[in-house]
Amino acid sequence: MDRNLIRIRTLDKEDITKILDQSKVFLEILDRPIKKVPALRGKVVVTLFFEPSTRTRMSFELAAKMLSADVLNFAASTSSAVKGESLKDTALTMKALGADYIVVRHTHTGAPEFIAKQGDFRVINGGDGFGEHPTQALLDLFTIRQKLGRLEGLNVAIMGDIAHSRVARSNIFALTKMGANVRLVAPPTMLPVNIEKLGAQVHYRPDAIFEDTDVLYLLRVQTERQKDSLLPSLKEYAELFGVNGDLLSKFKKDVIVMHPGPINRGVEISHDVADGNDTYIEEQVRNGLVVRMAVLYLLEGGKEAAHEAVN
Ligand code: NCD
Repeated sequence: MDRNLIRIRTLDKEDITKILDQSKVFLEILDRPIKKVPALRGKVVVTLFFEPSTRTRMSFELAAKMLSADVLNFAASTSSAVKGESLKDTALTMKALGADYIVVRHTHTGAPEFIAKQGDFRVINGGDGFGEHPTQALLDLFTIRQKLGRLEGLNVAIMGDIAHSRVARSNIFALTKMGANVRLVAPPTMLPVNIEKLGAQVHYRPDAIFEDTDVLYLLRVQTERQKDSLLPSLKEYAELFGVNGDLLSKFKKDVIVMHPGPINRGVEISHDVADGNDTYIEEQVRNGLVVRMAVLYLLEGGKEAAHEAVN
């Protein structure tokens, strides 16, 4: 692995497999009464978030704490960023404080690469603009492998606002690298031009994927990122693409439903499907902890499949 984790695009199949295998080793820690191992003792991890987040920020913080790191949290809204401090000066401040790891979320694609140039800390991308969200894709792959036993040859349909989704981009890269077939399902206005060049099939209606979808991965309609409204109305989206019990019953019996969160109940997913037995949203969140532990551990130079990390 590289010294930073910024793009799935730069990882190969072996790197991804190594992270997923190490994540599995860490699962056992979550069931312990004292959920802590010393792997990152004395290291400083900063979560530098310029955009709202619940899951990603909290799970990075908890993952770093479970590895015994010292964790500093930066939230743009309560920092000197509101006084106009630049990204460069913020990064230099983190460097001066002795940050070993910076987990960054930013509205601008490319912000993590820029921060990585400002110091000798390691950078993990927690979501950059319309770019990538690598740890989300890794925890999704981990969850799929955990539920279905493999990734190779599976049919994974990603449905929703693909145009605005860094999660979709990272998942397309990760799933195709691992040998899964990716189908993108959305109205044309929610699909970026030339997206099929990334190796995914494109469909404009859910009925095209009923028959053989193994994983139905739903995305939120990102109204806050849309400059122009891409849809006549959210109600119309919900009618055509919203997954409720009726639509789900048209899929294979054993299809699994996933979503990176936050969900919009009643838009892309109904209450009954969100709370139903085919849906693994909470598992995704829980798996996010071990995947982020594994990423931090491996960037720190952890030995391959290091069982000693849990002892
Ligand atoms: C996503 C994000 O922020 O990229 N959420 C997440 O990290 N789980 C997707 C979203 O906001 O819809």
